[in-house]
Amino acid sequence: MIFLKICILVVTLSLAVLQLAHCKKKSNEFDFFTFTQSWPTVVCFEGVSTGHKCHISRNVTGWTIHGLWPSQGSTEGPSFCNNSLKFNESAVEKLLPDLDAYWPNLYTDTARDDFWEHEWSKHGTCAVTVNETGNEYLYFNKGLDLFQMINLTGILTDIGVIPDDNKTYDVTNILNKVTPRLRGFEPRLSCYKYKEEFYLTSFEICFTKEFEMKSCLQKSRDNRLYFQSLKDIRKIKKVEHFLNNDDLIDCPRDHLVKYPTIKYD
Ligand SMILES: *[C@@H]1O[C@H](CO)[C@@H](O)[C@H](O)[C@H]1NC(C)=O
Ligand SMILES: *[C@@H]1O[C@H](CO)[C@@H](O)[C@H](O)[C@H]1NC(C)=O
Ligand SMILES: *[C@@H]1O[C@H](CO)[C@@H](O)[C@H](O)[C@H]1NC(C)=O
Ligand SMILES: *[C@@H]1O[C@H](CO)[C@@H](O)[C@H](O)[C@H]1NC(C)=O
Ligand SMILES: *[C@@H]1O[C@H](CO)[C@@H](O)[C@H](O)[C@H]1NC(C)=O
Ligand SMILES: *[C@@H]1O[C@H](CO)[C@@H](O)[C@H](O)[C@H]1NC(C)=O
Repeated sequence: MIFLKICILVVTLSLAVLQLAHCKKKSNEFDFFTFTQSWPTVVCFEGVSTGHKCHISRNVTGWTIHGLWPSQGSTEGPSFCNNSLKFNESAVEKLLPDLDAYWPNLYTDTARDDFWEHEWSKHGTCAVTVNETGNEYLYFNKGLDLFQMINLTGILTDIGVIPDDNKTYDVTNILNKVTPRLRGFEPRLSCYKYKEEFYLTSFEICFTKEFEMKSCLQKSRDNRLYFQSLKDIRKIKKVEHFLNNDDLIDCPRDHLVKYPTIKYD
């Protein structure tokens, strides 16, 4: 009898937990931003491996913006928050030269603004509750501002981490040298794994909703969710391919990584 009561209690509690998890999932709330920059050469490796055509324009000379993502705790954060806020290229017309150079779509088998449209629909529509990213223009402008403020290409050059097709770099060493340049907040580094080699592909830097830099590391990445988002992108691009979950990971700290030069052809 007691056992039955405990059992019913457990079931009730489990349902409550499920309900909570469900509520949380549907909420558009978030508590910080993740700002992600990508290395174009490796974006092309990934793109080509998933069936895209990839081309790096001469105007792209270093790290580029991937996105500014509302994030929540250890989850990926809300996405696609308001589908009545359609992407409107005219609204960012003044930013187009900067967007082309710093936030480019390298996949030439997709339209030039597909990438911006995707970032806006998926992440920007969730960011509008913050004044500084309160509309499409402000959202993209903020991404460009953060990009200028951080200048990862400059920071890496300063610490001697220079693109090279033959050299490899130690991840711990990169983190130790970059972190002091980011007010002591350690960025998160992702690598693309290809034929047993690791390629540096993205830097994530986190900000509070007031755009003060903060640590990203309290967020433990749920790889499954992350890959779900990659799959999403593919679905939108109508490319049939599923990346092996082992292909894109946090850069292993005890490993050497490649940082290949930008190829323009
Ligand atoms: C979505 O955006 C529209 C247009 O700005 C606005 O009227 C509406 O209230 C928004 N919906 C939600 C759920 O925020
Ligand atoms: C797109 O943006 C332009 C410039 O801000 C504006 O004039 C136009 O009304 C917008 N179009 C839509 C459909 O919202
Ligand atoms: C590079 O930037 C210049 C100046 O904004 C622009 O005129 C040119 O069309 C751009 N080239 C490419 C290939 O995007
Ligand atoms: C956002 O802007 C509105 C209108 O300017 C203001 O009333 C509100 O207090 C601002 N919110 C925050 C969090 O700064
Ligand atoms: C970043 O810094 C480098 C050299 O320190 C400079 O050449 C480049 O123009 C800067 N990039 C941006 C986007 O400000
Ligand atoms: C890298 O190695 C290749 C052959 O392995 C060589 O042709 C090339 O010159 C090297 N590049 C640099 C920058 O050392």
